[in-house]
Parts: sequence; structure tokens; C-alpha cells
Amino acid sequence: MTTEQKGSTGMAAPFTADLTGKTAVVTGASSGIGRAIAEEYLRNGATVVGLHRRPVTTFGGKYVPALADLSDPAQVRAAAAGVLREHRVDILVNNAGLNLRHPFEDFPFEDWDRVQQLNVRTVVELTQLFGRPMLERGSGVIVNLASMLSFTGGFTASAYAASKGAVAQFTKSVANEWAGRGVRVNAIAPGFISTEMNVALVADETRNRQILERIPAGRWGCAEDIAGAALFLASDAAGFVHGTVLPVDGGYLAR
Ligand SMILES: NC(=O)c1ccc[n+]([C@@H]2O[C@H](COP(=O)([O-])OP(=O)(O)OC[C@H]3O[C@@H](n4cnc5c(N)ncnc54)[C@H](OP(=O)(O)O)[C@@H]3O)[C@@H](O)[C@H]2O)c1
Repeated sequence: MTTEQKGSTGMAAPFTADLTGKTAVVTGASSGIGRAIAEEYLRNGATVVGLHRRPVTTFGGKYVPALADLSDPAQVRAAAAGVLREHRVDILVNNAGLNLRHPFEDFPFEDWDRVQQLNVRTVVELTQLFGRPMLERGSGVIVNLASMLSFTGGFTASAYAASKGAVAQFTKSVANEWAGRGVRVNAIAPGFISTEMNVALVADETRNRQILERIPAGRWGCAEDIAGAALFLASDAAGFVHGTVLPVDGGYLAR
């Protein structure tokens, strides 16, 4: 089943920014959106430390893998401490995320907690751990991955929608506290992006057609569409951008 219906011509046009000398931590950089963001930062001169579980071997440039299960708070803290011992971190991208679907009346609380742990608690903890040295230096950038479900409810995704609503509000709240201290905190709200997370939706002919009919751009997004926005938010071009939750969704929310 196709991810393209009509109209729009594919991924966003290239945007470049000089990240030479900067170090970015990207969580969930082994696949999907995180991988595309890591590759975009590497292309633009950054050193990238990737926090994920699966080993990856095919990255070029200055890529440093740091394997950790970010659903385990002890591993989150140990990974952050290890990275901070070795690197001055200028950019943090909280990308790793999980969606577990159930009709809400049957939603198992174990799955609810797994979603909140990775999508909210880990984001919060990494923001604090990497944000403190940024505040001491008076400079830094944090980019969180929110979602369209930060704004809308979706179906059978109550835990995910609640978690991404929290990410959006958390982003604004911390941005207010840190904007005057040199640290910019923003979020990206991707629309329907064709990654591992959405394999089942793409394969479901009916749902796929319904989704495409609802996207003004007439296609699913690709991970590179999000990488462009992540590069912009990390760059000096976004120097006055604080506390925004930027939809990158082919117009879905505008409809
Ligand atoms: N795809 C979309 O349509 C869409 C829409 C809105 C928002 N988003 C958000 O964008 C972000 C990336 O989504 P995606 O579509 O790229 O997802 P994905 O293809 O499923 O990739 C998820 C990434 O997170 C990592 N990860 C998952 N659990 C982890 C854990 N416990 N510890 C460490 N790393 C973990 C995975 O790496 P390992 O398996 O190697 O650990 C993988 O690199 C998520 O926050 C998602 O909610 C996606």
C-alpha cells in the first residue's frame, strides 16, 4: 500500500546550518525520525551521540553510539552521566518514544506506565540532566518530539496522547524558565510519518486511505521532513524561537 496519494512532491527542500564544533545527543537514533535527525546533524558538522538499544554500524561522520534502555531510570541516569563525562553537550533531542494501542476500557496499566515512562519521565529526566550544564554555560538547545496527538486525541492511543500532551506542556513550561538563561526549549509535532512505528497503519488499506484523504499535502511524511525542522530548531536561525510546538504534518492540523 502506498504512502502517497497525490500532489506534494516528496521531502522538504534541503536547509543547511553550521553545527561544526557542536555536540548533539539524539535519543532513539537507531531508526526512523531519530536516525534522520542524527544524519542531518552529522551532515551539518555536529558530533552526534546516539542513545538507543540496538547497535548501529552504518552511520558516517562523528557518530558515537551510547547504548542504553531508556525505559530504565537507572540506565537513563548512567547513560547521561557517561556522556557528560566525555562531552560538552550543546543540543539534546528527546526523540525515543513508544505507542502502545488498546481500547481505553481494556487499557492495561502496565502498558500505560511503559508509555509514560519512556515518553514523559525519560524526557523530563534527560532534560534536567543535560539542561543543568547548559544553564551553567548559558547556552544550549533542547528539541522534544511531541506529536499531532499533543493536540488531538487519536483512536486507541490514550496513553500516547496523554504522554504527548504532557511533552508539549512540559516543553512550554521549561522554555519559560530557561529562555532568559540562554537555553532554548522547543518541540516538533510530527504528522503521519512513515516509520516502523506506523507499519501497521500503512499496511491497513482502509486506515491508510482515510489518513491520506485527511492530509492536505496528499502523502505521508518521511523522517527527513522532521530532520529539517530539527536542524532549524538547533540552529542559530531559530535564536528567538522558544517554547514552540511546531507541527510538521502536511497540513493535517490546519484542516
Ligand atoms: N512516526 C510518526 O508518525 C510519529 C508521529 C508523531 C510523533 N512521533 C514521535 O517521534 C519519535 C520517533 O518516532 P519514530 O516514528 O521514528 O519511531 P521508531 O521508528 O519506532 O523509532 C523509535 C526509536 O526509539 C528508540 N527506542 C524505543 N524504545 C527505546 C528504549 N526503551 N530505550 C532506548 N531507545 C528506545 C528505538 O531504538 P532501539 O529500538 O534501538 O532502542 C528507535 O530508534 C517518537 O517520540 C514518536 O512518538 C512519531
